[in-house]
Amino acid sequence: MKMETAGAVLLLLWAAVVVVAAESGGLQHEAPGAAAASTQQTCQPDIHTVLREMTALVTEQRVELKYTQTQMETMESRLRASEKKAEIMETRLRASENTVEEQRVELSLTKAQVEKQIEELKKENGDSKVAFSASFAVSENKHIGPFDTAITLIFNHVFINIGSAYDPNTGIFTAPVRGVYQFHYHIFAGGAHGAGANLQKNGQHVVAAYNHKAPHDINTSQGVSLQLEKGDTVCLRLGGGAWVSAYTRHYTTFSGQLLFLM
Ligand SMILES: *[C@@H]1O[C@H](CO)[C@@H](O)[C@H](O)[C@H]1NC(C)=O
Repeated sequence: MKMETAGAVLLLLWAAVVVVAAESGGLQHEAPGAAAASTQQTCQPDIHTVLREMTALVTEQRVELKYTQTQMETMESRLRASEKKAEIMETRLRASENTVEEQRVELSLTKAQVEKQIEELKKENGDSKVAFSASFAVSENKHIGPFDTAITLIFNHVFINIGSAYDPNTGIFTAPVRGVYQFHYHIFAGGAHGAGANLQKNGQHVVAAYNHKAPHDINTSQGVSLQLEKGDTVCLRLGGGAWVSAYTRHYTTFSGQLLFLM
């Protein structure tokens, strides 16, 4: 705006000079022997004065222009600095975005791990629910045995079988997880023969319950807690010469449950 004003002033001055110069030129042409012109000349601004003023003005303008240029240069350098800053900020932003993305990936990994652990815990918790209780399924009272050799007692009347670790078709319990298990069995029988059963783990004798023949019905029972590895088997064996009742009222039973995981 300042420049424009200065330019306009300069233009006006230039116009004035042209007019004055033209008039002066006219005077110069008329100069020889024109006294009236000399009087007129004193009323007009002196060309040299005008030129001096113009020179001063131009110098002033030049200084102003120089100042403006300097200002512009300063602005430009500031702009460049701002641009540089913006670039740095952008780089930082991109780095932050990358970090955020990395953290998101890490988080999703962690989430997956946690979910996996939850699933495992759920499975473990599910596996930790192990309990069975069974007797003989019969339509009328009878006895099983006596036999010459030992047999596995198959309790095919199932009260509960949480975790399905007990097989009512074979009479064999298979530990689904490593842990401490508790077993109990009760044997009832008529008195004509001895009655009892042995508890075996993986085919090896662990405990026994037995009662000799008697004038009346006989009872015997046993209980044991065992630490089992996953896959270990437990069953009841009826010894040779002994029998057990298989009555409709279920006097003889075999039960077991997982106490806790190991
Ligand atoms: C064995 O148990 C049965 C049923 O509970 C009972 O009737 C019988 O008297 C018991 N026998 C002996 C010897 O205690």
